[in-house]
Amino acid sequence: MSNDPYTLAGEAAAALRAAAGLESFDVALVMGSGWVPAADALGETVSEIPFTDLPGFSAPAVAGHGGKLRVVRTGAGRHALVFLGRSHLYEGRVVDSVVHGVRTAAAAGVRTVILTNAAGGLRPETQQVGDPVLISDHINMTGANPITGTTFIDLTEVYSKRLRALVREIDPAIAEGVYVAFRGPTYETPAEIRMLRTLGGDLIGMSTVLEAIAAREAGLEVLGLSLVTNPAAGLAGDPLDHEEVLQVGRATAARMGVLLAKVVDRL
Ligand code: 6GU
Repeated sequence: MSNDPYTLAGEAAAALRAAAGLESFDVALVMGSGWVPAADALGETVSEIPFTDLPGFSAPAVAGHGGKLRVVRTGAGRHALVFLGRSHLYEGRVVDSVVHGVRTAAAAGVRTVILTNAAGGLRPETQQVGDPVLISDHINMTGANPITGTTFIDLTEVYSKRLRALVREIDPAIAEGVYVAFRGPTYETPAEIRMLRTLGGDLIGMSTVLEAIAAREAGLEVLGLSLVTNPAAGLAGDPLDHEEVLQVGRATAARMGVLLAKVVDRL
């Protein structure tokens, strides 16, 4: 296995092609907690490959975060790479490991990546638990970046306007918002949540931004979708817990799955 993260992604893509018996794939989807149950609605499962069979991947540490790569054939005959689970910085993973799935998908020929996550809502005035929200932009507060070097990458349009317009054609009522990422695994304090609202954040989570940056570096078109699973700390009475996040995903799986299936078939 290579030490260079891009070479390692190439090795994982070769192993994936061999395991799936396919030369290329049309789209990759990263299913965040809350979205994993929605994966079943995407189409017919062609194969499932445990992450541990692919160079550079490791099994996720958190319950409910899956741990395999599913190859799906959609109704329109597209081949989707569905990551059931992802790596996070809060698990102690390095940035290259967090973005390895996106780099592998790019090396396997994917041109589009759909990044999903479960997020805390920073605007309970207008957001309902269980609502999907289109990510319009992000604020990266993880302190990390997947790119090292002196190539300056433009991030004016990380989340594709074209793909956002496509989602709004399918679901005209869907809200858009700015996703803020913290490293975690602590949820934020009420003072931090007040700060993030002032800074223009609408959603808060612990994923997505590093993968989106790596995807843009690889020239992929990115669609980001959050599922609002709870109001962020201090914006509602109860302390936050992970089971609540998973429960909202189970409750809205059918709706999220139908939305994703329509998007993938119209790419
Ligand atoms: Cl409130 N914060 C963070 N960082 N991640 C979350 C969340 C909150 N709710 C779901 N995921």
